[in-house]
Amino acid sequence: MTDDPRDLLRSYLRQRAELGEAELVLDRLSAAELQALLAEQKTAPAPRLVPPSDARREPAADPRRESAPDPRRESSPNPRRESGPPAEGPEKVEVHVRGGAPVPGTVPHPPSPRAPAAYVSAEEISSLPILADVREIALGCPRCGLARTRTHVVFGEGRENADVMVVGEAPGQDEDRSGRPFVGRAGRLLDLVLMSAGFPREDVYICNVLKCRPPQNRNPQPDEVSACSPYLLKQIELVQPRVILAFGTFAAQTLLGTDVSIGKLRGRTHQYQGVPLVPTYHPAACLRHPAWVRSVWEDVQRARDVLDAS
Ligand code: URA
Repeated sequence: MTDDPRDLLRSYLRQRAELGEAELVLDRLSAAELQALLAEQKTAPAPRLVPPSDARREPAADPRRESAPDPRRESSPNPRRESGPPAEGPEKVEVHVRGGAPVPGTVPHPPSPRAPAAYVSAEEISSLPILADVREIALGCPRCGLARTRTHVVFGEGRENADVMVVGEAPGQDEDRSGRPFVGRAGRLLDLVLMSAGFPREDVYICNVLKCRPPQNRNPQPDEVSACSPYLLKQIELVQPRVILAFGTFAAQTLLGTDVSIGKLRGRTHQYQGVPLVPTYHPAACLRHPAWVRSVWEDVQRARDVLDAS
């Protein structure tokens, strides 16, 4: 098998097409193949991958029309940990952060960290009319203790009128450094799974429950979630997605207002204020447990189906 991740993905997409999209083989990826897939040249641009079946389409065809894996929260301190102490298997793999320009169509990330600014109440945040205003306030947010330890606020990015909104947990080290969500290893897997369902990254809006990195990637604390929630709620209100993909326990539980485990929440479509919400495992957890990719893929495919049916 080739070592080029793009060839690998092309080959999986081709298999998917040949199988009439009834079966995706991501669950059969070995840990080594998954690692190869996720390892990318540091300076390489984000791959624009087109499965063979789509290469024959008219260029104007909707790219989202391309087609595309019971664990609970991990027992380790935080399943989305990307930069903590080395663990077994995929944790040892070196995967570089994608460099270069922001995804086309997205708001550029802040060039330098900002000092916390004045306190803005949840009510004021909720009354802001546009995402740029919410972002501006968030970038100087002093609403919780993470304002003292963060490098960058990671507000979120993507298509501001996206049909699909991706909600993760909190920035990790790479995101804290860059100011952009999901740019580390978990982000690479996220891109792959989204792409497999016909959701290229530039078409979706991606953000997190917490906009600032918890030190050592520890779990978000309840006071931090509640301090940060006004931003997320406002992002959802303004983006008006047709489907929300909640990756991981914190995203799913926060938006659904429940403490039910992600293992029990996933596998069906929920509702967040009338918007279909599909919960699934966090991609960082999948990096430790490649077999879980299958469930994530099924859940993302469910989101695809929700969108196609609406
Ligand atoms: N994990 C998350 O939940 N969000 C990120 O942006 C990166 C890693």
